[in-house]
Amino acid sequence: MRELLAMRERAKCGRDPTCSDDTLAYLLSTANAIRPRRILEIGAGEGLTSVALLLHTQAEVTGVEINSLRAARARGNAALFGVGERFHLIEGDAAECLPALKGPFDMIFLDGPKVQYRRYYADCKRLLRRRGVLISDDVMLFHWAKNEIPPKRTMLIRHLCEYLDMIAQDPDVWTEILSIGDGVAFTVKR
Ligand SMILES: C[S@@+](CC[C@H](N)C(=O)[O-])C[C@H]1O[C@@H](n2cnc3c(N)ncnc32)[C@H](O)[C@@H]1O
Repeated sequence: MRELLAMRERAKCGRDPTCSDDTLAYLLSTANAIRPRRILEIGAGEGLTSVALLLHTQAEVTGVEINSLRAARARGNAALFGVGERFHLIEGDAAECLPALKGPFDMIFLDGPKVQYRRYYADCKRLLRRRGVLISDDVMLFHWAKNEIPPKRTMLIRHLCEYLDMIAQDPDVWTEILSIGDGVAFTVKR
């Protein structure tokens, strides 16, 4: 899949980069283990992670993306790689789209705006099947806190910390934080 790798390298230089290689490898190995039938990606970008999941599994993938240019590219990329029939892209704000979605999903990749993770969490939980897996990306961006926090990042870090507290304290799920990429939270619905 040289073409997909090249597209990923280009996307990593963009404003909202595609997930890291380590995070993608983790997503694919998780998918290998749980053999999902339905996957949801929140913040689908140009669909490169969705395409990798579609190529790697037999699952149907639903993506939510607010940016219309990226949404169009995501549809185009899924078609380019021959997996368009299993890709369902919802263009819009996840805060509005998620409440209307019907589960169950076996796996959710949460990679939209980090300050909204707490807001999306109730829908993620509702949409997951029992023993379904929620993988939240970039949750350790707050490690900047070890050094001096740039003022414009203070709110982001506060939101991520509150999100991690929320999932850690939720008795309905079991969560582990992994040092993969910029931090991944692996959450299983009990
Ligand atoms: C980090 S990028 C996603 C990368 C993608 N998951 C991947 O691995 O290739 C985050 C994406 O979330 C989208 N986004 C931002 N706010 C959103 C919202 N309110 N609803 C849905 N998508 C949103 C951005 O347009 C951007 O494409």
